[in-house]
Amino acid sequence: MVNDFFNTQNLPTRGDTTTAMSPLSQAIEPDWSREHPRKLWDPTRRLLKCIRRWQALQDRRGVFARIARRYWSLQHLFWGIVTQCELPLATQIGGGLLLPHPNGIVVHPGTSIGPNCLIMNQVTLGQGNAGGVPVIGGWVYFAAGARVIGNITIGDFSIVGLNCVLMQDVPAGGVAVGVPARIRVDPSRLPGNNGTGAS
Ligand SMILES: CC(C)(COP(=O)(O)OP(=O)(O)OC[C@H]1O[C@@H](n2cnc3c(N)ncnc32)[C@H](O)[C@@H]1OP(=O)(O)O)[C@@H](O)C(=O)NCCC(=O)NCCS
Repeated sequence: MVNDFFNTQNLPTRGDTTTAMSPLSQAIEPDWSREHPRKLWDPTRRLLKCIRRWQALQDRRGVFARIARRYWSLQHLFWGIVTQCELPLATQIGGGLLLPHPNGIVVHPGTSIGPNCLIMNQVTLGQGNAGGVPVIGGWVYFAAGARVIGNITIGDFSIVGLNCVLMQDVPAGGVAVGVPARIRVDPSRLPGNNGTGAS
């Protein structure tokens, strides 16, 4: 399963040059194919499918919509238990999200996640003491155990390192590591600033 994710160049390093998308558009245009279930037993993609279906019905009225919403929320409950991942139905997710190891992921429902992000196991995206939740750009990578807390903004093409505790903004192309986070900007991570990612 992990190979399935990584072989397709899904790690957000300098943009993915293997797709038809330009590197810059990878942070803007969701690659929905990353979310399509590959087989019947594909728990994380099934979980995401429930969220997509439920959100598509969110503003619909009528008995059919109510029954369908109930159906998808029960499915969501089932896949949430299977994956041990707390990704609420109302979370704003830009599309193309990858969750290779979903266990222990906890996301606040108010969090906004940009397109084509990748979240590893035991990551928390949540509310800080003063309230507020993270707003996350496109093509951001959260390594295992990262804790991202509060009203902060994370720019496109950023990385939040293993076990990092992040409570401050990260500019585009930033790399955050440590507890509390130290942030450095790696311009080579931004499309157009390196020998490989430029279109
Ligand atoms: C964030 C990350 C990408 C940084 O990698 P990098 O840019 O190559 O950084 P380096 O290894 O050159 O380290 C730079 C500095 O940050 C420190 N550092 C790197 N990762 C760190 C981390 N997670 N926590 C604390 N410090 C870290 C290094 O010790 C080094 O410190 P120094 O300058 O004082 O020597 C990497 O640490 C990481 O977290 N990778 C994710 C791996 C992963 O998710 N694997 C899949 C598991 S299933």
